[in-house]
Amino acid sequence: MVEFTLPPNSRIDARAGKTYRAPDGAAVVRTFRVYRFDPASGERPRVDSYELDMAACGPMVLDALLKIKNEIDPTLSLRRSCREGICGSCAMNINGVNTLACTQSCADLRQGEVRIYPLPHLPVVKDLVADLGNFYAQYAAVKPWLQTRTPVAPDRERLQSKEDQEKIDRPSACILCACCSTSCPSYWWNGDRYLGPAALLAAYRWIVDSRDEATGERLDALNDPFRLYRCHTIMNCTEACPKDLNPARAIADIKRLMLERQH
Ligand code: SF4
Ligand code: F3S
Ligand code: FES
Repeated sequence: MVEFTLPPNSRIDARAGKTYRAPDGAAVVRTFRVYRFDPASGERPRVDSYELDMAACGPMVLDALLKIKNEIDPTLSLRRSCREGICGSCAMNINGVNTLACTQSCADLRQGEVRIYPLPHLPVVKDLVADLGNFYAQYAAVKPWLQTRTPVAPDRERLQSKEDQEKIDRPSACILCACCSTSCPSYWWNGDRYLGPAALLAAYRWIVDSRDEATGERLDALNDPFRLYRCHTIMNCTEACPKDLNPARAIADIKRLMLERQH
């Protein structure tokens, strides 16, 4: 379980929160307590409560949020696109766990209120929309593209064996949702200098790619007390990943490759 911590620019004013009630006679009513904050307003953050008739709502937390936005409170801000667990844009903190709202079923959450906050320890743009600017800059910093020195034959692609492809198969499935990095205490405290598990998983994906010819430079760029070695094997990242990836293992493998280079 990843404990929720408030975003850095937050002080919740619970008394200022509003409650929106479901119509009388609703079959199954569930309360959604949703973090609300508009930095431009000058007001403090608050938590609003929305009661939904679940018989008239889709099964996922994203369905509930869109019902709130479409039918009750259009001022609620959130990100979403694919609603299939592919784009990563609906990542948020639901009942204390970083996950994707579109793949989290309401029925699978324990009974009682559903508490929904933005991803922890990031500045908030508005409501459930966290500022991912630094997160994306860190991803770009690991140069997540194929780097080669030797020219490719004009009549064929750069080939790779099945075994070599399997090494990058899982790391390539990362959807950059940021659930892992924002569940990592090291990233909370050193997010400006520690790259975090998502960017390091991306770095690993290219380090072990048999076609890439910049492995040495990639490892050199990570050989830094903060960029890589602020990982203290806390493992929240792997537990948080909604795609069942293992960034902690990738980081450990990078550290092993660093050691092997020195011998
Ligand atoms: Fe999201 Fe998993 Fe990628 Fe982290 S490793 S960004 S949790 S998909
Ligand atoms: Fe953080 Fe995962 Fe390392 S939680 S400390 S990146 S193992
Ligand atoms: Fe795309 Fe949830 S909307 S992952």
